[in-house]
Amino acid sequence: MDAKPKSRIAGTGAYVPEQVLTNLDLEKLVDTSDAWITERTGIKQRHIAAPGEASSDMARVASERALAAARLSAADLDMIVVGTISPDMRLPACAAFLQQKLGAKQIPSFDVAAACAGFVYAMSIGDQFIRSGACKNVLVVGVELLSRVLNWKDRTTCVLFGDGAGAAVLSATSGDTDSGVLSTRLYTDASLAESLCIPAGGSKEPIDDQSIANARDKVHMIGGDIFKVAVRNLTSASREALEAAQLTTENIDWVVPHQANHRILSQVATRLSIPMDRFVLNIDRYGNTSSASIPIALDEGVRDGRIQPGQTVLMCALGAGISWASALVRM
Ligand code: UT7
Repeated sequence: MDAKPKSRIAGTGAYVPEQVLTNLDLEKLVDTSDAWITERTGIKQRHIAAPGEASSDMARVASERALAAARLSAADLDMIVVGTISPDMRLPACAAFLQQKLGAKQIPSFDVAAACAGFVYAMSIGDQFIRSGACKNVLVVGVELLSRVLNWKDRTTCVLFGDGAGAAVLSATSGDTDSGVLSTRLYTDASLAESLCIPAGGSKEPIDDQSIANARDKVHMIGGDIFKVAVRNLTSASREALEAAQLTTENIDWVVPHQANHRILSQVATRLSIPMDRFVLNIDRYGNTSSASIPIALDEGVRDGRIQPGQTVLMCALGAGISWASALVRM
């Protein structure tokens, strides 16, 4: 019997802001159409944060819901890991503000900038700290407020993204139980780094009047480059997570993927031979919420009863970096 601890998902939570922006609303802003957005991406609407609402505010609500589901309080947490590329401020970490808003102890709290793969990265880090015995309860969060870093004149990006937050509490469990994080796999390849980036605002290109005039402080994406690699890498990362856990696609009850484009996911489903009705999808309602998309979908699947205790869930995500990741979890 293996006595080493492992981590399991003890509770999930999610939050999206109230305001909804539909494709029809976007038709009034840029030269686009509901038909194009629906057909090319699967998105019908997205949620947009209210003025004054910050990433840590959205993360707080999702985290409190996850803590309540886990029957824990903020005082029980040993670590907070937040996947985000849209923190409240460039400095300090969004996780620091989240710690404060939750009223947690002076525990290590930090961000992981792995873009759309941020939640799976955060989960993998939390899992390692629990397996090592250093932590018992780790809050892992994916939160993005991308509406503030989008160029609302660029139809190739502004129609794609939405705001939101999702969270999961990872708790230590004895190594001889069935449930838990079975494997995680993390990858980065910078050869396409400039295909999805915010060029200005870092050390390389400080923001000035010209960069603002050229929207270089906003998201730039060459979507076609990312699309091809997303299909290939999400498929291979999923296979590698399965191999690491000595499972096959037949053992998968649910796929909870990053929701960037419905067409990417249907191609991944075909390559993995997993029917689309085993994917938890919500891209139509939320758009691409980057690091928040997996924990929001996971929470929806858990709360509406699709994802049941004992079932095996595959998560996979890919985004800027490019960074991508996969995880297998028995609930
Ligand atoms: O989550 C982070 C990782 N990101 C991704 O995984 C995104 C991956 N990429 C994609 O999802 C897709 O590439 C997009 C949805 C971004 C774009 O779809 P696409 O089928 O690759 O379109 P495209 O970029 O090849 O553009 C096709 C046409 C172009 O017009 P022309 O040159 O054929 O005349 C675009 O200008 O569609 C045009 N277009 C639009 N038309 C109406 C691009 N955006 C729009 C728009 N509305 N919003």
